[in-house]
Amino acid sequence: MEPFDLYSPEIDADPFTGYARLREAHPCYWSQSAGAWILSRFEDVSRATQDWETYSSTGGNLVDELPGRAGATLGTTDPPRHDRLRALSMAAFSRKSMAQLTEPALEIADRSLEAILARGAFEFVEDYSSQITVGLLFRTMGLPIRDHNDIRRKVILAVSTDKAAKGRTQEHIDAFKYLADFLEAEVAERRKRPTDDLITHLAEAEIEGDRLSEREIVMTTATFVMAGVESLSSFMSVFALNLHDYPDARRRIVADFSLLAPAIEESLRFNTSAQRFKRTLTRDVDLHGQTMRKGDKVILAYGSANRDWRKFPNPDVYDIERRPQGHLGFGGGKHFCLGSQMARIVTELSTRRFLERIPEYHLTSRELVWNSSSNFRSPAALPMAVGKI
Ligand code: HEM
Repeated sequence: MEPFDLYSPEIDADPFTGYARLREAHPCYWSQSAGAWILSRFEDVSRATQDWETYSSTGGNLVDELPGRAGATLGTTDPPRHDRLRALSMAAFSRKSMAQLTEPALEIADRSLEAILARGAFEFVEDYSSQITVGLLFRTMGLPIRDHNDIRRKVILAVSTDKAAKGRTQEHIDAFKYLADFLEAEVAERRKRPTDDLITHLAEAEIEGDRLSEREIVMTTATFVMAGVESLSSFMSVFALNLHDYPDARRRIVADFSLLAPAIEESLRFNTSAQRFKRTLTRDVDLHGQTMRKGDKVILAYGSANRDWRKFPNPDVYDIERRPQGHLGFGGGKHFCLGSQMARIVTELSTRRFLERIPEYHLTSRELVWNSSSNFRSPAALPMAVGKI
């Protein structure tokens, strides 16, 4: 049995037990099932994020890459192409100031909370975190709200993996194609009728005469939609689960909301939604007595690095006052998450609003179902009820 099998059914709910085995006994581990090396210690993962010349992203950064992404997105290019894409994306992204997110985020939060409070029982992912993240993202990007649930389902499918097939099936690939086609039509529409939204800003972004190509705009837009739907909504859900599982932490936050921001950082360390990303080696690397060869795939296990005692003392203790400097919940180096500021702000605003209205809540089922993914860790559903058990 592999000490860490990416495609075992248990790994989505609990990757942490396997990570500990890797860190202590196999810090540079060849995974037969993944066909890739896995790095699990903080120092190794962190160093790899800084060394993009050796750990290249051009072969794709998703463990099971989707067609058309490699070489066309921020996460799947190296400098100098990556620097160019990043600068143009930043130019578009920064035109939507973070302050502009506050009002719509609170508006969606309040509307969702009214519905939740009227019913008493709710499903956190569907009724709260997805409402806010997808709603906000669709507004920022100027996408039609009517397609909201449809697109959310396609994104979840596109980033899912099939355990038995050890990778993507045609169904996953078709979901991604559907998403790309949908966005391509939206981009074409913005070309004809520019508006004040992120897609238009991406299409118009220009630095010293340089602009994004059509394919780059579509794939960058797809990255934003996938990150917003998958990474952010999953993280908000996992954060709500942490505050459920650690009620003392939740009650301290409700009494003093200045603890909310450090609690978010601790949850990003403790169980980030973006658990693992991939790189491809551009040269041979010797590490911990193993030789990884040029061309080999390497999985950087951010979720494991964040639980390494060599960096974070008592790493399995959830401590909202830890203030974990340098955690890898948003990755590191050149590919550090472009949406980190947005993710922090939206999580803080919406969680605060939620706790102000619902300071006590409980899960109505302990049998949680997790989405099946080789990169992300996300609950498929969090059935809950307002109040104490
Ligand atoms: C809590 C929520 C989020 C988490 C945990 C997260 C995590 C990450 C991580 C770990 C990476 C590095 C990928 C790699 O190493 O290859 C990344 C990259 C990225 N993220 Fe996020 N992300 C979140 C939310 C968002 C949001 C809301 C957006 C934008 C709407 C976003 C956009 C991006 C982009 C564009 C990249 C690629 C950056 C580059 O390669 O230069 N993320 N994210």
